[in-house]
Amino acid sequence: MTTGTACGKIILFGEHAVVYGRPALAVPLSQLRAKAFVTRRAQEGIVIHARDLEREIVVNDASASEPLAAITRMTLERLGLYENLDISVESDLPLAGGLGSGAAISTALVRALAAHFDQALTPAQISALVYETEKMYHGTPSGIDNTVIAYEQPVRFDRPKPSAQTSVGQTTLGWEITPFRIARPFTLAIANTGVTSPTKITVGDVRRGWEQDPVRYEKTFDTIGEIVQRAQDAVARSENEALGKLMTRNQDALRELGVSSPEVERLLDAGLHAGAAGGKLSGGGGGGNVIFYMGEGRADMVKRALLDAGAVSVIVTKIGT
Ligand code: MEV
Repeated sequence: MTTGTACGKIILFGEHAVVYGRPALAVPLSQLRAKAFVTRRAQEGIVIHARDLEREIVVNDASASEPLAAITRMTLERLGLYENLDISVESDLPLAGGLGSGAAISTALVRALAAHFDQALTPAQISALVYETEKMYHGTPSGIDNTVIAYEQPVRFDRPKPSAQTSVGQTTLGWEITPFRIARPFTLAIANTGVTSPTKITVGDVRRGWEQDPVRYEKTFDTIGEIVQRAQDAVARSENEALGKLMTRNQDALRELGVSSPEVERLLDAGLHAGAAGGKLSGGGGGGNVIFYMGEGRADMVKRALLDAGAVSVIVTKIGT
């Protein structure tokens, strides 16, 4: 049996605006992982066992838009190899929680398949394959999730602005992937609202808003782009104290885009009252996970307050180590 694993991801700054050509900063979440296991199968065909989804997918019978079947087919095509296989996938990452579960499962599956055939794929090749399934999950993804997960390092991600030639989410061309420097590690709390919210929905809502009122949306995207640049400069210069306020400003802009939710706001209030220096939703929003920049010595109080306010789980983690 061969195994492939992949990390989750946290978008620190810039989600949604990144789909429209503004930069975003994302980091791997290494302690929560997706895993895939591949073994040779005695019977005909390839079957994917997705226990978390309570599904069994027969690859040959699955529709072209079934993401796990599609990533399996594309990977085998890319490798130019085929065998009858049993593939199992599982994940510690909450589904539709903004932490990249879909991209992580696909990445783990690609890695396990490549290992099964003793082949090596580069992070860029894995990222490009996984991007194809991201389109099935998300409609018009920027490409940031597959990138940070396939490279498993902090990245600044820039994609070209959509234009008449490249509509939102259409192209993989022109992505700029820059590892960014975190001069001094910092602590984040990640609180799960327990509300699942497919990224496709909020990304679609933002797209409709942008089509109706491009001037207002572009202005908000510009504000987010400036926040991202300031945050990148701050972490490079060891000025981590600036991050709390920047997160809260990024959240204000996300609220203007309509992607916050009552559950996100409830956790934000609780975390900030308990002493977190700032916070925001992370990922698609509409529920999912909320991240907090923690001042020194505040972690226990903030975690308690978040759980009391209804968070289904709280992870406290160091970023930049
Ligand atoms: C999802 O993790 C991040 C979004 O910006 C969508 C995307 O970039 O594809 C909301």
